[in-house]
Amino acid sequence: MTREEEVKKRRTFAIISHPDAGKTTITEQLLKFGGAIREAGTVKARKTGNFAKSDWMDIEKERGISVTSSVMQFDYAGKRVNILDTPGHEDFSEDTYRTLMAVDAAVMIIDSAKGIEAQTKKLFQVVKHRGIPVFTFINKLDRDGREPLDLLSELEEILGIASVPMNWPIGMGANFQGLYDFTNQRVEVYQGEERFLPFAEIEGHELTRNPFFTQAVEDAELLADAGNPFDEEAVLKGQLTPVFFGSALTSFGVQTFLDSFLTYAPEPHSHKTVDGDDVDPLNPDFSGFVFKIQANMDPRHRDRIAFVRVVSGEFERGMDVNLLRTGKKVKLSNVTQFMAESRENVENAVAGDIIGVYDTGTYQVGDTMATGKLKTAFEPLPTFTPEIFMRVQAKNVMKQKSFQKGIEQLVQEGAIQLYKSYSTGDLMLGAVGQLQFEVFKDRMEREYSSEIVMTPMGNKTVRWIKPEQLDEKMSSSRNILARDRFDHPLFLFENDFAMRWFVDKYPDVELMEEFSV
Ligand code: G4P
Repeated sequence: MTREEEVKKRRTFAIISHPDAGKTTITEQLLKFGGAIREAGTVKARKTGNFAKSDWMDIEKERGISVTSSVMQFDYAGKRVNILDTPGHEDFSEDTYRTLMAVDAAVMIIDSAKGIEAQTKKLFQVVKHRGIPVFTFINKLDRDGREPLDLLSELEEILGIASVPMNWPIGMGANFQGLYDFTNQRVEVYQGEERFLPFAEIEGHELTRNPFFTQAVEDAELLADAGNPFDEEAVLKGQLTPVFFGSALTSFGVQTFLDSFLTYAPEPHSHKTVDGDDVDPLNPDFSGFVFKIQANMDPRHRDRIAFVRVVSGEFERGMDVNLLRTGKKVKLSNVTQFMAESRENVENAVAGDIIGVYDTGTYQVGDTMATGKLKTAFEPLPTFTPEIFMRVQAKNVMKQKSFQKGIEQLVQEGAIQLYKSYSTGDLMLGAVGQLQFEVFKDRMEREYSSEIVMTPMGNKTVRWIKPEQLDEKMSSSRNILARDRFDHPLFLFENDFAMRWFVDKYPDVELMEEFSV
């Protein structure tokens, strides 16, 4: 197979959802269809720590790094699928957002009883900003949930994205009969001997006498008249999300979803450099960028894995690449590719693939590596506005030097955000998830021998202001006036109420969600 054919069969995506919507369950189903795992329950058992299988990646066993499920690769229907994990729960961090910078599409899973939840909304904003396609799977139809039409309205109202159903549920919960699949012109039957009933053969079938079937047909007709038409271009631009219904737990509708998703999901995209040029996935020179660095939480080891999204060319073991930030050459010899159950050392990886580079401190998040004529770095990854904050200080006041050095480097690396209060000079750390503080504390101790004390400040709302509007008198007990690491002024508001109060009091001061001059 030529490299072009290899690239064209890549489909790289992430699943965005709120904890408990069914991400793990669906991931397992997908891996099963791809033959990457034999039994459902494998990924799940890993998640809960009950996994006893002996052949997980050596690196994970030896060093305690949980990387296996970070990237899962399998072949299905002529495509090579890469699923990137977006950790939730206590593992939520800026890396979760950055992972979305490395995919070409997103799958959004929604619990039909709960609708759109907080974490889904946050992740969706990032995906929307990138303008990549989003495919929606509404899960748990085997249970009673909300009205499907309500759920579609929520997509529009809460997320601001138009939707087009690809199939429609016939009943739900105890009355769930299956899916009215107008895309494939068939009914997918939930229980019964035959799984698929083509529309052409449906006349006279007992299902047609079921009131939920009649309702589904009516809804489908209504949608055909009044809903959005399917528009592939709008889907690819992220303006329209195709919606699928199903039940991951009973593996119902998941394969239908996968087939359709792989039909419409895009191939690897080109990537912009800081000069505004696009690097094409078929460019023969190798290039890639680091979107996440997974530090090892095991105190006996300092090593880390840098996750690299391949943008162009072909990775070959042992190749030399230029690390554009430092201008130095590095050899990519200790590199891992990820599979669901076993470690496969990458022999070659092309655009769309993810490789894991063993790292002893060489790489930073956002780094570009490239060969040949590619000399310009990719656009930097965005930073994500933190929501939780901690005051930080050195435990031992005599050890300021290592404390300052550690903070400076880890902040520059993108591990955490740092702010300094104008009035007290206090240092404050900002993160999107608790995990970032833990990793930060751990790395300060191990890598910089600096013990730190962190005091929780809780949630805050960050807003930047224009430097010329800066006035220390605007600071009050409900906000903290601070500067970020670039010296840009900002307020940390106690809550939205405090922010509104400020807006009323200082209507002329512009509050910005991102700093700009
Ligand atoms: P997550 O990764 O998004 O956090 O969700 P996960 O797949 O772990 O699923 C969360 C819970 O929802 C699990 O139940 C799972 O079995 C259940 N679930 C997932 N898909 C469906 C579905 O289609 N229908 C129904 N009825 N339930 C579903 P749990 O009780 O937390 O775990 P377990 O005891 O079943 O292992």
